[in-house]
Amino acid sequence: MRRETDFSLLKYNTFGIDVRCRDFFEYESVDELADFVASGALEGRRWMQIGGGSNLLFLSDFDGVVLHSKIDGIEIVPADKPNEFFVTAGSGVVWDDFVAFCVDHHLGGVENLSLIPGEVGASPVQNIGAYGVEAKDVIYEVQAMDVTQGKMCRFSNAECQFAYRDSYFKHHTNYIVTRVTVLLHSEEGYQYNVSYGNLLKAIPEEMAFSLSLIRKTIIGVRNSKLPDPKEIGSAGSFFKNPIVERSLYEALSKDYPEMPFYEVPDGMVKIPAGWLIDQCGWKGKQLEHAGVYEKQALVLVNRGGATGQEVWNLAEQIVASVQKKFSITISPEVCVIR
Ligand code: EPU
Repeated sequence: MRRETDFSLLKYNTFGIDVRCRDFFEYESVDELADFVASGALEGRRWMQIGGGSNLLFLSDFDGVVLHSKIDGIEIVPADKPNEFFVTAGSGVVWDDFVAFCVDHHLGGVENLSLIPGEVGASPVQNIGAYGVEAKDVIYEVQAMDVTQGKMCRFSNAECQFAYRDSYFKHHTNYIVTRVTVLLHSEEGYQYNVSYGNLLKAIPEEMAFSLSLIRKTIIGVRNSKLPDPKEIGSAGSFFKNPIVERSLYEALSKDYPEMPFYEVPDGMVKIPAGWLIDQCGWKGKQLEHAGVYEKQALVLVNRGGATGQEVWNLAEQIVASVQKKFSITISPEVCVIR
């Protein structure tokens, strides 16, 4: 357990924004978290739970308590069918270590989510996703503490109310995720998911599919497009891909026939925000110390010493220009903490 006051969050947000919080509490077990909650330390206080800080933008210091999980451990338990297994991980496990563990144990389902930054505890909150797979496709159960009552709860997949980068936990912030269980498939007879975009093209033709090959390929694709948070501050995709009415998509596609899109349920159409931003000429641009990544316009970066407000000013200008050119309102994928 670790308790700090007036604590720098510089190492706890991948944007590398130099902000401080009033109190910081890091726990290694559910019991430590329960004792902390029972002590009344959160009563009447503003508080937030952070994971790897890979999806956060702090606009100023946080006048409250920041909690961080170090709950560890990964466990495999056979499920009902002989080729299915439950894998449960503590919320503090680094997400990509979890993916590597599953791939090493020849269990399929999370390999497309390789190298997503952050920790296991955030995966259901944000319903993380990449290359045609989302956390909602594999999550079987989430254990969480209701901090208003100090009580542990279990959520089935349906109860998590998953949607694109959204879940029940985003709207009910009294829960802190402590463990996540996914249902995975043994590699023998497993259907690899390689249908997303150019993924198949990135896999060398002569190679037979395997979980480790898919993991390696996705790591290569991500590294070629996304900045390494250890070198350049960023929070991955800054905006969500907007979902628009088909009529708007059809009207726009007359002027922009090359506009990429994905069909989504209910006759709506998802358009890549990166493409929209790129078309507005933002790629590689810089405003004060904040910039638009030169290889992927969806990613805003800290060019060194940026404040959260500088990044936010850039984001607001981007939103306005996409609105003006395409009549589409894009919204942040990152959580903006004011
Ligand atoms: N595009 C451009 N210019 C750009 C960026 C993209 O024209 O600067 C075009 C691409 O050519 C492509 C399309 O936009 O036709 C989509 O781009 P890409 O496949 O790179 O994926 P994305 O939609 O931009 C989403 C997720 C990523 C995830 C990738 C791969 C969101 C907000 N982002 O990005 O997730 O890794 O798909 O599945 O849904 C994250 O959430 O932080 C994240 C990185």
